[in-house]
Amino acid sequence: MSNAHNSRVSIADLAAKKKSGQKWAMLTCYEQITAEIFDQAGIPVLLVGDSAGNNFLGFENTIPVEVDHLIPMAKAVVSASKSAMVVADFPFGSYESSPEQAVETGIRFFKEAQVGAVKLEGGAKVIPQIQKLIAAGIPVMGHLGLTPQSVHALGGFKVQGRGDDGQRIIDDALALQKAGVFAIVLEAVPAKLAAEITKQLSIPTIGIGAGVDCDAQVLVWTDLMGLTAKMPKLAKAYRNLRKEMADAVSEFAEDVAAGRFPTADQSFN
Ligand code: KIV
Repeated sequence: MSNAHNSRVSIADLAAKKKSGQKWAMLTCYEQITAEIFDQAGIPVLLVGDSAGNNFLGFENTIPVEVDHLIPMAKAVVSASKSAMVVADFPFGSYESSPEQAVETGIRFFKEAQVGAVKLEGGAKVIPQIQKLIAAGIPVMGHLGLTPQSVHALGGFKVQGRGDDGQRIIDDALALQKAGVFAIVLEAVPAKLAAEITKQLSIPTIGIGAGVDCDAQVLVWTDLMGLTAKMPKLAKAYRNLRKEMADAVSEFAEDVAAGRFPTADQSFN
């Protein structure tokens, strides 16, 4: 497996897609096998999201996730993929204190996992962090709207930017663009607001629960595959792997109990 970044999707490639009106898909990814599958399927951007917290690490939400949890995941995704840009999510507590803390976190993801970019949540208040990261040569993806790390401050997983509050998100999006982010995730905002932001920005917007007019769409892969027990409204299950896996596991256990597994095919002379 190659770690080379020169053959990977670049920021310029994503900018060109915005210019030509070509929509694209981003997926979360946390380990080797899905990285291989998604990369070979041509998904241009793989996000090692802090959603690993409530999908793989057994947490209730993303808040307890640490950089040390995501580094091995990011390493696996980078080494198992060849073409995709791999973006590492900054977990809660790894960038808020200061621009210096953000750069230290970015350097860890760049050196230890060799990702191509990082993502962090927030608007105007994280501009100094974004500027410092970009000055250090670390490309940044923004994340506005429902920012799950602020779930307690936001009073729950609620749609953001309804009514007059929409202007705040437009202002944040413009400020993030000015600071130099190369794309912005818009999560759980009214479709009309996301369309307006997408129109006003020259960089791509990546929607999740933000309507069809964003330049790109992202899904948490376990939602896409129907593995998640409680599907959020903003996600669509394209398969029911939860049932497929439960059926397969039951069949295996029944075969073992009945002495039907292993057969001669799985046995050695
Ligand atoms: O962590 C994550 O999976 C995310 C996406 C939902 C954008 O931030």
